[in-house]
Amino acid sequence: MNNIRTFKKMKRKNEKIVMLTAYDYPSGKYAEAANVDIILVGDSLGMVVLGYNDTLNVTLDDIIYHTRAVRRGAKDTFIVADMPFMTYHITPEETKENAAALIVEGGANAVKLEGGKPGRIEAIKAIIECEIPVIAHLGLTPQSIHSFGGFSVQGRKEIDHKRILGQAKEIEKAGAFMLVLEGIPEKLGKEITEQLSIPTIGIGAGRFTDGQVLVYHDILGMTDFKPKFVKTYIDLSSVIPKAIKEYSNEVKKEKFPKEENVYEPIKSL
Ligand code: KIV
Repeated sequence: MNNIRTFKKMKRKNEKIVMLTAYDYPSGKYAEAANVDIILVGDSLGMVVLGYNDTLNVTLDDIIYHTRAVRRGAKDTFIVADMPFMTYHITPEETKENAAALIVEGGANAVKLEGGKPGRIEAIKAIIECEIPVIAHLGLTPQSIHSFGGFSVQGRKEIDHKRILGQAKEIEKAGAFMLVLEGIPEKLGKEITEQLSIPTIGIGAGRFTDGQVLVYHDILGMTDFKPKFVKTYIDLSSVIPKAIKEYSNEVKKEKFPKEENVYEPIKSL
């Protein structure tokens, strides 16, 4: 299985890192079969699996439950569990307990949290003190949706560019082993990637980050969410309803089940 040293080595060798989200046994199994480098059990779970409008309602128990399912499907893949909103904001004690639960109960190898303000830097240090590897996340951090006033690209103005670059450096200093960069200009993604020795993983952060992450349901065309940074590799949103309709029609028209689908009684001697 990959580990935090593998990812450092990949950055040094200029080898791109592939991260994909997964939320259950089958998505974990498919991600592992495709040899992705890291699976993220993201709190995007709230939107793509649980049907919320944002990620804020996802609980620690939700992430633990889904991480356990992903682990059953992906026994040999490095799994990162997202720390939900308000599980790392209050005290270092609570932060450590919550991070530990994702590792011990969920079976994750590392945790991810959002933001780069001083309180988040303290949270990163507290978790690392427990020997739990941490990925940080900057830019368009979805848990900040209300303070941003919506989902919008971050770091476009010079002052925000400088702030995010500064936070990235603080995050590296605090000991995070990787940094996710979401929804920022390509120029900023490139600059952070060049100035940090830890790997950067982009989502809507351009071509020059050390790796990329996308959401499972987005690459498979299972969401209506189509921002320009997403590439849809198959349109399951049309394939799945078509298959279900075909099944329904066949039952109604008595075309299913057929003889090949039925059991015979055991012949008595
Ligand atoms: O929750 C998530 O899926 C994420 C990725 C989009 C980076 O945080």
